[in-house]
Amino acid sequence: MTDSPTAAATSTASTASRFREKVCVVTGAGGGIGSAIARRLAREGATVVVCDVDGATADTVASEITGEGGRAEVAQFDLADASACHQAVDDVVARHGHLDVLVNNAGVNRRGDLLALSAEDWETSFAINVHPLFHLCRAALPHMASRGGGAIVNTASQWSLQPAPGHIAYNVTKAAVVAFTRSLARDHAHQGVRVNAVCPGEILTPMVEAHLARTGRTVADLDALVPFGRVGTPEEVAALVAFLASDEAPYMCGSVVEITGAQAVA
Ligand SMILES: NC(=O)c1ccc[n+]([C@@H]2O[C@H](COP(=O)([O-])OP(=O)(O)OC[C@H]3O[C@@H](n4cnc5c(N)ncnc54)[C@H](O)[C@@H]3O)[C@@H](O)[C@H]2O)c1
Repeated sequence: MTDSPTAAATSTASTASRFREKVCVVTGAGGGIGSAIARRLAREGATVVVCDVDGATADTVASEITGEGGRAEVAQFDLADASACHQAVDDVVARHGHLDVLVNNAGVNRRGDLLALSAEDWETSFAINVHPLFHLCRAALPHMASRGGGAIVNTASQWSLQPAPGHIAYNVTKAAVVAFTRSLARDHAHQGVRVNAVCPGEILTPMVEAHLARTGRTVADLDALVPFGRVGTPEEVAALVAFLASDEAPYMCGSVVEITGAQAVA
């Protein structure tokens, strides 16, 4: 077993102001990885818009951030609702006058192979994992471009690149997130909008915990799959997202970055 995550992964000591005066929208921010991203950006000075369909978890995350002295507001809406996506971005711009960072993090994992998966699961996977990227980016990009640029970070998956068995909807929609990221970057780099994606491996979050509970497997079972010896933490993914979204990554555009504890190269 490799050492547990060190303070280095969560420290903001040297980066505390990377997002000062920036407005950052994070979807799925009530969940495991999204809440870690929201907290990380807020600790580094951002005003974070905590977006989630689950208003209670979004409220909790926003309260934690404001309780620590950060700035957060909640936007509760369903990403499957295209007009709600546009409205959410318009509301942010109306309130703040700008939108600097968009993190398309929300996602669902409907399991099954082609024959086991229902048509509803297939369509829901696209409705939540893919279509909102089109609507949110379409709403946000003109605002970013008009101010000389911005950063978009999309949460894909290791399985975007190496399909997992029995997860056809997830594999295909997450591959679409990668293709969308590269296409958008190619088209809008000249406007100063940097678009990148992260591809996490096994990260311990409510999504994964629910799967473990259903299948009777343990965290140790997952740890054993990872060459690094343990699953990743949401905070480790958040640190990578924050880097890509920050001015420390000015030449990163169209990049797809794996964060897997070497699982992808095993
Ligand atoms: N946990 C992992 O091992 C892992 C690995 C690779 C990629 N990912 C990706 O990371 C992202 C976050 O995953 P997580 O593990 O934190 O999951 P999670 O289930 O903890 O969080 C997902 C969040 O998205 C929200 N959400 C779901 N449907 C929504 C909708 N229709 N409208 C608005 N919000 C909605 C949920 O309410 C939840 O808060 C997802 O895109 C997931 O596919 C996770």
